[in-house]
Amino acid sequence: MRSVLVSPAAPFSLSISKIASDKSISHRSVMFAMLADGESEIENFLRAEDTMNSLEIVKNLGAEVQDDGDVIKIVSHGIKEPFEILDCGNSGTGIRLFCGLLSSAEGHFVLTGDKYLRRRPMKRVTAPLRSIGAKIDGREDGNLAPLSIRGASLKAFTYESKIASAQVKSCMILAALNADGVCRYTEPELSRDHTERMLQGMGAELEVDGLTTTIKPLQGLLSPLKIRVPADPSSAFFFAVAAAITPESDVILEGVTLNPTRIEAFKALERMGADITYELTDNKYEPVGNIHVKYAPLHGITVEDNISWLIDELPALSIAMATASGESVVKNAKELRVKESDRIATVVTGLRACGIEVDEYEDGYKITGGTLHKAKVESDGDHRIAMSFIIAGLQCGMEVSDLDCINTSFPNFFELLQQLTQIEFRD
Ligand code: S3P
Repeated sequence: MRSVLVSPAAPFSLSISKIASDKSISHRSVMFAMLADGESEIENFLRAEDTMNSLEIVKNLGAEVQDDGDVIKIVSHGIKEPFEILDCGNSGTGIRLFCGLLSSAEGHFVLTGDKYLRRRPMKRVTAPLRSIGAKIDGREDGNLAPLSIRGASLKAFTYESKIASAQVKSCMILAALNADGVCRYTEPELSRDHTERMLQGMGAELEVDGLTTTIKPLQGLLSPLKIRVPADPSSAFFFAVAAAITPESDVILEGVTLNPTRIEAFKALERMGADITYELTDNKYEPVGNIHVKYAPLHGITVEDNISWLIDELPALSIAMATASGESVVKNAKELRVKESDRIATVVTGLRACGIEVDEYEDGYKITGGTLHKAKVESDGDHRIAMSFIIAGLQCGMEVSDLDCINTSFPNFFELLQQLTQIEFRD
């Protein structure tokens, strides 16, 4: 298994314009183009494994795709029954949103993914979809992929979700667009809202009132999407932590979505003492801008609210917590257990290997800040775990193995990291 040796970083001052494009928005852009009348244009699409799988799937569903390497143009001819099995790779967003999109389409569809995705829970989408008439099944009574869908008529619904999940919400919004009446979806806490913003921008009749989204069924097709995908705050955050833990360092992260449901981890890092400023540069579908992060001594904090707003950044935030003075606590984050890995277990094991005292809870952990020590950490096939411990290596040196997963979200990660330190790969 390939591994990387990372050396400690000297102080740095950088501006990064090539942070990977936003994964959530990239997935949605190609899926939503299937609902449009005319040509959608997507600039700065994330060319990583997860999102390229979604693009391949829309081709298999009959879309005409032109890609000049810069702009992707998509013309949909309605959803066609595919010849192929639809492979979502490692992506929970891919498989769960396609379930919503395909449940009412004419034909038979089989969705699957890699060995990690095939062990993640799908009942959270298959149960509400079945309750409105979807014909969807999979291993363990529809909880595990491969999933098979036979498109069916869907009934209007009022659904109160118990989990704050943008994947479940988006799946049900997509289903609602083809239901037989007005639908209402309520979540316990606001999760990321790209689906609502993008579909509204395309002309869908969708209203958001607090935690409830009301969706009217489509009368016809939507306007095509014309979007430049901003940089991904979840990817940018690795370099934010790098600057926040390296004395006399700072980084400007350019063109990142500043959607409030996505930048909570930066706010948490600010609460820990980091010096962070935001500059708005654009506002179409989403606020977009630059984030400037400067080193300052960090102290421990508790993170327990709006967890879905920073769920993907918690592994990297835990590296900052490990170097901070005092204790940090993460609570209400049980969802971490069903991400690309069990991220409570992988964070706790990795930090302990680096000599940090950590208490594990069912829904989080307590980290006692200290000094990170060089260790050998395995990613368990999880991109965010791999990148988080590589960033920890900027303090103390690190060997991280099982790296291929980084290509699911951030293929140019090492190219950018090389500006900060020396790295050496081993087979
Ligand atoms: C995502 C939503 C989140 C997040 C995932 C991407 C999305 O998952 O963890 O990386 O694009 O909707 P949940 O909605 O399941 O929390």
